[in-house]
Parts: sequence; C-alpha cells; structure tokens
Amino acid sequence: MLELTSLEGSREVYGRALDFAQQQVRALVERDPGFYPMYTEQGRWRHGKAAWTHWCDGFLPGMMWIFAKRTRDAEWSRLAEEYTTPLEHRKLDRNVHDLGFIFLSTHHRWYRLTGREELNDIVIQAGRTLALRFKKKGEYLSSFMGPESIFIDIMANVGIIFYAAIQTGDRGLMDVAMKHSLTSRRVLVRGDGSSSHEGIYNLETGEFLRQSTQQGWRSDSCWARGLAWAIYGFTSAYKLVRDERFLQTAELCSDYFLEHVPANGVTPMDFDAPVAERRDETSAAAITAAALLRLAKLTPDRAKGMLYDQAARRVLLTLCQPPYLASETPDWEGILKEGIYHLNLNLGVAESVMWGEYFFVEALDRALGPV
Ligand code: GLY
Repeated sequence: MLELTSLEGSREVYGRALDFAQQQVRALVERDPGFYPMYTEQGRWRHGKAAWTHWCDGFLPGMMWIFAKRTRDAEWSRLAEEYTTPLEHRKLDRNVHDLGFIFLSTHHRWYRLTGREELNDIVIQAGRTLALRFKKKGEYLSSFMGPESIFIDIMANVGIIFYAAIQTGDRGLMDVAMKHSLTSRRVLVRGDGSSSHEGIYNLETGEFLRQSTQQGWRSDSCWARGLAWAIYGFTSAYKLVRDERFLQTAELCSDYFLEHVPANGVTPMDFDAPVAERRDETSAAAITAAALLRLAKLTPDRAKGMLYDQAARRVLLTLCQPPYLASETPDWEGILKEGIYHLNLNLGVAESVMWGEYFFVEALDRALGPV
C-alpha cells in the first residue's frame, strides 16, 4: 500500500530531475547523433540486442518537445524537429499497433506548439492507418503479434484514432475507437481492476477464447506495465469523449494499483509474480504517475482526485531519487534505472527503457504544471 506522507519540497526535486533528464538526453544526442535507442544494456544505449518490435522512435523527440515547451530553448526545438521529421513515413506503417506512441509524442506536440496544419494531417493519417487493424469479428484492433491477438497496450494508442475522428468528423473512425475500447474493457480488464496483457480470438467466429501474455508472469497475472497502459489509455479515452464507462475503468484500474503497489510507489514487473521473483519496473510506475496526474484533474470525485494526485506525486518523488534516478551512477546513459522491457526474452532487464524516460518526463511536466 502506497505511503502518502512527506511530499514537501517536491517541486524542487521534480525540477532537479528534469534538469538531469535534459543533461542525459543532450549527452545522448551529442554522443550518438541521429540514433533512436530503445533500452540500455548495462546502462549503454548502443548495443546489438533485438528490438522485438519497432515502437519507440517517438519517445526521444517527445522528450525534446517537452523540454522545448518548458525551457523555450530554441536548441531543443531544433533538435525536436530534427528527430521528429524522419518519422513521418511511419504514418503509413501497418506492421505495428503503436502509432499513438509514435505520433502523439512528436507531430502532435509539434502541431500544438505551432498550429501548422500539415503536422495535424500527419497525426490524422497515422490514426487512419492504426484503424486499419480493426477486426469486425470481435471488434478489436489486432496487435503486431497477429490478427487473433489484442493487447492492453493498444489502449494507450487508440487515442490517436479518437483524435483523428474528432478532428475530421469521421464516424467510422469513432466507431472503431469506441468498439476497441469497449472490447478491451470487457475482455482485458478484470472485475478487481487488474488487467490481462493479451487476449486471443477465434478469427472465424470472432469469439473471445482466452487471456494470455507475452511480457507478464502468467496469462492470468497482472503485468504492471499493462495495467499502466490501461490506466493511461482509459483516462485519455475519457478525456477525449467523456464516456463514463472509460472513467469507471480508469478508476477501477487505478484503485487496483493503489491497493497493490508497494509503499514507495515503484511497481513490481508483475503484481502476481511470487515474492521471491519480484523485480522493480520503473517504467510502469512512471506511466502510471503521468496517467494519475491527468485522471486526478478529470474525475468529478474530489476525494478521489486528491488521492490520485498525491499517489502520483509519491511515485514521482521516489523515481526522482537514487537508486531509481541514475544521477549518482557514473557512466549510466539513461535517466531512470530499473526498467524492464521483456523479461521472458531477456531484453532490457533492470535497464533504462525509452518509454520509461518519456513518461517520466511527461509526468514531471504535469506535476510541475504550466510554465
Ligand atoms: N510492448 C510494449 C511494452 O513493452 O510495453
């Protein structure tokens, strides 16, 4: 259960962590210009290990856009443009279910800062492309694993389809986004607020067959990053379309998080892993903190809002200090240590992971408030 006391002085701590994040990103682009890393190996971004799937390129420029907004430093804007521009072709990429991650962190942030319509068109096209993954039988967007597979991760991406639908008035897009979100709610979120990573369908009949996992401990367990994607995704869906069912689900999953997370706010990789096998997973904690800060403002229940805000700040405060912040680990190239990408494939275990860095910076930005 989360320890919710002693949050004093936290603004200063968030500010220092954001400075450290800028320092690490600046060092990365000077050391290895043009490189879009995914996860470290013994603290180094450059290594030859597998990607598994190609979903992370938006996160590095995404951080740069946040730094540019907060500091108004023209050099951050220049770098953000330089690293965002080459991603445009991914707006037609049908191999991944991650176009929300790639474009909401980059072209969408760029558009919000400049109002340039051609940037918005790129985001809308990415939303249209993601919608092509929709399976009419079963009513879900399929994961990169195959047409029979739905991932909870897709909830953190479906926002780009809602966005494209709202921007264009396209009812077909809205229908896809609503149906996928309601299906995820029904088949991937359990009654206690825990979530399943994956679900498997019968393609012939559209019948839901079973819950499953790729990155979690077991098919019936609650992989912490999946839960984080659920909280983030249902909160974003509610923000975009104000359907009460999405608010209920975001709150149910958040309440599961609050009940099960350790006192310091750092999630285990999987909430159901045996205690002897538990490992910290900081990226899930960072994503959840970013989501709870948003949910705290959206929920009409003021007591819940205060609880979510405090919980997010507790998590952040822990992440802003060693041993999680890498500020006292010489030669560590990432910002946050102790993330886990894929334990079962032994990829990025107890390392920095690029989405952990991005959502940590997004959470710091939200916690600090408007510039
Ligand atoms: N597959 C996305 C993630 O590792 O969370």
